[in-house]
Amino acid sequence: MSTGKQIEEMIRAVAAKDIRAAGGYHALSGGARKKVLEALDKNGLKALTQLIKESKRKSFKAADKRFLDIAKGDVATPVYLLDETLIEENMRIMRYVKDRTGCRVLHALKAYASFATFPVMRRYLDGVCASGLNEARLGREEFKKEVHTFAAAYSEKEIGQILRHSDVVIFNSFHQLRQYGPPARARGVEIGLRVNPGHSEVAAEMYNPCAPNSRLGVVYDVFKEEFQAHRKITDGLHFHAMCEQNSDVLERVLRSFEKLYGQYIRGLKWVNFGGGHHITRDDYDLERLIRLINAFKKRYGVQVYLEPGEASVLNAGVLVSTVLDVVKNKMEIAIMDASAEAHMPDVLIMPYRPHVLGSSQAGRKRYAYRLAGPSCLAGDVMGDYSFDRPLKRGDRLVFADMALYSIVKNTTFNGMNLPDIAVMRDGGRIYPVKRFGYRDYRNRQS
Ligand SMILES: Cc1ncc(COP(=O)(O)O)c(C=O)c1O
Repeated sequence: MSTGKQIEEMIRAVAAKDIRAAGGYHALSGGARKKVLEALDKNGLKALTQLIKESKRKSFKAADKRFLDIAKGDVATPVYLLDETLIEENMRIMRYVKDRTGCRVLHALKAYASFATFPVMRRYLDGVCASGLNEARLGREEFKKEVHTFAAAYSEKEIGQILRHSDVVIFNSFHQLRQYGPPARARGVEIGLRVNPGHSEVAAEMYNPCAPNSRLGVVYDVFKEEFQAHRKITDGLHFHAMCEQNSDVLERVLRSFEKLYGQYIRGLKWVNFGGGHHITRDDYDLERLIRLINAFKKRYGVQVYLEPGEASVLNAGVLVSTVLDVVKNKMEIAIMDASAEAHMPDVLIMPYRPHVLGSSQAGRKRYAYRLAGPSCLAGDVMGDYSFDRPLKRGDRLVFADMALYSIVKNTTFNGMNLPDIAVMRDGGRIYPVKRFGYRDYRNRQS
């Protein structure tokens, strides 16, 4: 079919609210997607957004069965299973935001760095954001697109290599900008400054980059005194103030950011809106994000970057674990071969109760269990759950949404083995990526 015909069909499908329009859109070339967007009016664009979201939601719903079927099979556990089809679904949403706004999207490596799936992610995103030397190098060597690095402070020992692996380096103080800005400039590396936007809505202080006395980002009182002297060497401003939030929060953060820094933006190359945008969550308001970015770009004539981490792999991976034993102490406690402390540390740090496929809150279904890890830590507990059937030793359970902030943060506490890593692609085939063993534990100790 000619591209012209494809576009015509697409537009008809959007008007008819036919969900196949989503797949049709994603399959088009960049040029054809642009033509579709130009041909749609405001309502048509809104309808397309809804169809794209609905199509993604359906894909994710279908995946639960895939994960459960695999858990029933003979896959060795514990294992992080990364579903490349779902990662690609998330990538499509990101690319749609790019298509509608012309913004650039970087993946935050701190959330997820399993480079086995980078070939798919690279097709959709513009690059990565890194938190220091190792992530910058991984981005350069494995993602092979733009690398933007930010650290709260850089060391003399590492800055040379960081500059070598970065296209953009973002400083957290005027002192470091003065010290390392000139060598960055000499190497052709762009220079950014992270500022505190003066507003955030993250309840947990631990995750609030703008909490009182935060070290992250130059505060306005310091900025207004010193920025003019560094204006010439600065290519962009960066802020990061959100955590797992919707675009209504971004709107309020932006309002505060612009009130403080708006007069300094014109003439810069870019502004980076940081991460914490839950772009790929079902209830995320994409239309508002698109409106905010387009209006910002128009107001200031700068490029906009987003650098989400979680959103790239949200709900796109699980941790499959086996019940090793069931013990009783006033309640039934299932001891798993995966540990909250070692293999899903955010469960204890945040804290949160991970969803287990097929389970409910304790008390809702007939058989209640506390799920716990095998380590010596008394608090190595995932949470209390209930099931339709009693759990038996050898049963497999699937902990949902375990691709993000898990593999990058896990440990070998108690000498525990790290879970295997496997990628699911081609409609459900499993490709083992990594198996860890004694040496991985030993090599970190001495
Ligand atoms: C500077 C910066 N950028 C991006 C991110 C990614 O955030 P998220 O994974 O919540 O999207 C973080 C997270 O801490 C961050 O600190």
